[in-house]
Amino acid sequence: MLSAINPSALKKQFPIFKRKIHGKSLTYLDNAATTQKPQAVIDTITDYYTNHNANIHRGVYQLSQEATGLYEAAHATIGRFIGASADEIIFTRNTTESINLLAHSLPPLFGKRNELLLTELEHHANLVPWQQLAKRAGMQLKFIRMNSDFTLDLADAEKKITSKTALVALCHVSNALGTINPVQKITQLAKAKGALTVVDAAQSVPHMPVDVKRLGCDFLAFSGHKMYGSTGIGVLYGRKELLERMPPYMTGGDMIKRVSYHDAEWNDLPMKFEAGTPHISGAIGLAAAVSYLQKIGMENIRKHEEHLTALALEQLKKFSVTIYHPGINHGAGIISFNLRGVHAHDVASLMDDHGICIRGGHHCAMPLMKKLGIPGTARISFGLYNTEQDVAAVMIALQSIIKKFGVKV
Ligand code: ALA
Repeated sequence: MLSAINPSALKKQFPIFKRKIHGKSLTYLDNAATTQKPQAVIDTITDYYTNHNANIHRGVYQLSQEATGLYEAAHATIGRFIGASADEIIFTRNTTESINLLAHSLPPLFGKRNELLLTELEHHANLVPWQQLAKRAGMQLKFIRMNSDFTLDLADAEKKITSKTALVALCHVSNALGTINPVQKITQLAKAKGALTVVDAAQSVPHMPVDVKRLGCDFLAFSGHKMYGSTGIGVLYGRKELLERMPPYMTGGDMIKRVSYHDAEWNDLPMKFEAGTPHISGAIGLAAAVSYLQKIGMENIRKHEEHLTALALEQLKKFSVTIYHPGINHGAGIISFNLRGVHAHDVASLMDDHGICIRGGHHCAMPLMKKLGIPGTARISFGLYNTEQDVAAVMIALQSIIKKFGVKV
């Protein structure tokens, strides 16, 4: 299968790839942790600080109005990207903050429902905030089981989503195993029982078309830095009708309409949830990242990463490795593996000698690793600029690691 895009040409648009690491070309395969930044995003952020910098929603002067216009346009651009309206897009710091916001502001909408349903695949960002809420509010935490092929057990989901379920929170794509969860099916089951749904889309929005209406979710969270934008900017999408009924998470400037010494009235959406001076340049940079992605096309990116995933899975199978991936039909471009008898950290650090960046460890998903009975994995995760040569570089490095450790193949 031919790739849908020309990744070598795209790579040239990312200045970091001019770097050498230990004298070798940089092979960056840790995109699930964070992505590199294209010149278009860097230029947009530089232009903002060079030509338009001012605080927003506060100044009557031209500069402030320019900054406000750019910041508000970012809400609209990102909304259109995922099928939402501008006032349903709340800028946060990252996926973690988006989920913390929900864990604090959603409970008043739960009524008498007292169960929070997650999946066994969640990473800490979509687990710890709900654990803390369960403790604070005396709610029960339940988990949809994972099958032995790393997919979600839908029969278990059907059993566990009941009239007691306040909310179902699940990742769209597992950051550790690459599993693409059947979000549409889960949101249908939840809706039928009147439960709310939260989707952690940090690993899907940068890699495939995502439309909140098609997914049928109530809330969706993702991070700018995993989709070629800067760190410190994240997004929470929420259905307007629900956001309007939720109390704010943080209070202070900009999120108010009127304030007296003893009381305050909240501002309209999305400002109600954006207290204080936000990450203006981050939001504008993220809008530039979205425009960049749209030019390439999310379908094309998905096809390209699918092609690399299939190639890497096929080649990895030739080595003495255990692969933790649900297969190309159920998985995205995140491949976890272990080389028999070699610690994942050693694999990652020896890859670095070859100029290859991969993550080794528990991937912020300790309970999932415990369930798999392993301390961690080595993980390759693809982005739009990765090439077949990158896959080949990993295989060459693996061969030398195998030789070094005397692993039997
Ligand atoms: N969740 C991010 C990762 O998987 C940090 O690396």
